[in-house]
Amino acid sequence: KMRKNIVAGNWKMNMTLAEGMALANELNEILAKEKPNCDVVIGTPFIHLASVAAAIDTNMIGVAAQNCADKESGAYTGEVSAAMVASTGAKYVILGHSERRAYYHETAEILKEKVKLALANGLTPIFCIGEVLEEREAGKQNEVVYSQLAGSLYDLSVEDFSKIVLAYEPVWAIGTGKTATAEQAQEIHAYIRSTIVEKYGQEIADNTSILYGGSCKASNAKELFANPDVDGGLIGGASLKAADFKGIIDAF
Ligand code: G3H
Repeated sequence: KMRKNIVAGNWKMNMTLAEGMALANELNEILAKEKPNCDVVIGTPFIHLASVAAAIDTNMIGVAAQNCADKESGAYTGEVSAAMVASTGAKYVILGHSERRAYYHETAEILKEKVKLALANGLTPIFCIGEVLEEREAGKQNEVVYSQLAGSLYDLSVEDFSKIVLAYEPVWAIGTGKTATAEQAQEIHAYIRSTIVEKYGQEIADNTSILYGGSCKASNAKELFANPDVDGGLIGGASLKAADFKGIIDAF
């Protein structure tokens, strides 16, 4: 397959600067010794980005922010712009994570702005989509992910869309220890790709990496990643220890 396999860590709101630096350096050392068979990314808190990017080999491990502002610059106290993220050496930004949607009221419209600004500043968005349990139980997961995609991404030009990485994360599997089965993941990833074919054509769809997230760990990563439409993972809890994260990277 032509598209990239990617294992991306999302540290969420964990790790002091010293702890984060230790983890990043440890991972850098491990991967320098044994080259991974996939792209590796770590999503750190904003305040760690510059130090982490300076300390590690960013050609081997990409650095991601977990969010960016929906405004370019100016009087937005406490916000961090896409340009600032890019200026640290980070190459990626996680956008639309279900925690941001649920706790910080990020709408499709807001996310559309964030995606535009990320792309304008040369960042690769890792754009998250996924349904909650009630929606899955009602059989509405395809509808939900379609409206998340259409609402924030499907107005992008072909050129811009080709830079997007997607992460499907069923909200009921995040931090719960309850993973989607490999079959459930494959089914919805294939559906997501089919909507990209419809909108942007087969070639763009074939080149779009779609990651799975939600209680992914070394013990289930192989089975998940073996599916033709699962191109890696977005890893929360299991990205906080180098050995656990390496175990998932080794699934490729
Ligand atoms: O961004 C990562 C996901 O929310 C998955 O988190 O691996 O702790 O379930 P988790």
